[in-house]
Amino acid sequence: MTAPRRSPPAFREAIRLARVPLYPFAELERRAAEQERPGRPVLKFAIGDPDLPPPEALTRALAEILRSDPTSHGYSTSRGEPTLREAVARFLRVRFGVPIDPEREVAILVGSKEGLSGLPRALLGPGEAVAVPDPGYPAYVAAALLNDLAVERLPLRPGGGWLPDWEGLSARVGLAYLNYPNNPTGQVARLPDLKEAVDWAHDHGSALAFDNAYSEITYGSEPAPSILEVPGAREVAVEFHSLSKTFGIPGWRVGFAVGNPDLLRLLVRLKSQSDSGAATPLQRAAVAALGLYRGRERPPEVARAVATYGERIRALAAGLEALGLEVVPPQGALYVWQRVRSGGAALAERLLDRAGILVTPGSAFGRGGEEYVRWSVTRPLSEIETALRRLPAALSPRRGGGDGAPAVGTPPEPPPGTGSGGSRSSSPRRRARPATRRSPG
Ligand code: MLT
Repeated sequence: MTAPRRSPPAFREAIRLARVPLYPFAELERRAAEQERPGRPVLKFAIGDPDLPPPEALTRALAEILRSDPTSHGYSTSRGEPTLREAVARFLRVRFGVPIDPEREVAILVGSKEGLSGLPRALLGPGEAVAVPDPGYPAYVAAALLNDLAVERLPLRPGGGWLPDWEGLSARVGLAYLNYPNNPTGQVARLPDLKEAVDWAHDHGSALAFDNAYSEITYGSEPAPSILEVPGAREVAVEFHSLSKTFGIPGWRVGFAVGNPDLLRLLVRLKSQSDSGAATPLQRAAVAALGLYRGRERPPEVARAVATYGERIRALAAGLEALGLEVVPPQGALYVWQRVRSGGAALAERLLDRAGILVTPGSAFGRGGEEYVRWSVTRPLSEIETALRRLPAALSPRRGGGDGAPAVGTPPEPPPGTGSGGSRSSSPRRRARPATRRSPG
């Protein structure tokens, strides 16, 4: 006798996962794959995935550790390898002049995104909210929603150097994200700007998650600051760093958090329940990368990569401006933020359909990005030149298409009643910077 056939169970996503927009970079990759044609590959300027090789000291250290360190195959600890925590403390001291206790004020992460996502989970609960810069890195909204927390927009003001407008956040906000050098706008904050954030956090009894993933990738003469240089920051802030962008190892997944020991203790406690630490050999090798720093100056290995990204940014920005397009001049990070008054999502769609060029629609970073697209310069100059040659045909009005295309990864509107009110912050001083530059074309 045969057993009666059972239909397999239908699995559906949890409500909290359904509320999170698709991760834009994964979704864009999927759309690009659909457009790929033999002999005409899609030019991919969407994700910021560094294409330059890591420093040799780093890859050599990893090879050596794997070859000759039999203890490197075991578990690490939730807080991370002591040698790497000491290297992190030294890096903060020589690069930013910030003293750090490697025992209490450092946690090693499985990439900075892991820590950025974990902090609200470790700290906040029902009825509380997370403030998220808009435009901002999509992982912040996801971190809030995946932890059943409300999202409040922290608008970045285009007319004010894309600095945050702290007014309007409610008393429910228990954690605010901030990110400079900024993804996606490319703007760099100065210490007085960061002091405003620290003052706001003190006044509101809120924590700050300062994402400094691009601290080493700046194009001016002044290096980007650490928020821990601001007096009182250590009482409210955790700063997140990534080795991905600085050393060209995004797939290694090694980052670190520094700052407030109580917040870090919670994060490490969460990590002990959810992961078993970054891979031990990678952590031990990362010591060699941070050891390249001898002072405030970037070591030659990092300076060379930044010079290459800078050259690409200049070529791309000049090419876009020569076509009469508006570009926000970037001061740091890996992106060109192009203004598209008629809507970034429509242009992104049109570039992909007509020219095989993949860019990120600014709406993927929030409502504040709707009039923009973001180009990542993690592709070689030759591809930038090809894209610039393909652009005029894609921009011409010969076909109607494009407008009204769905925005990839557009974060949901905050639930009613979460977006305003309850602010106790005073009116911050802001520097005026040009929002965009328009070439005469
Ligand atoms: C970006 O392209 O904005 C990010 O670097 C991608 C990521 O970290 O997921």
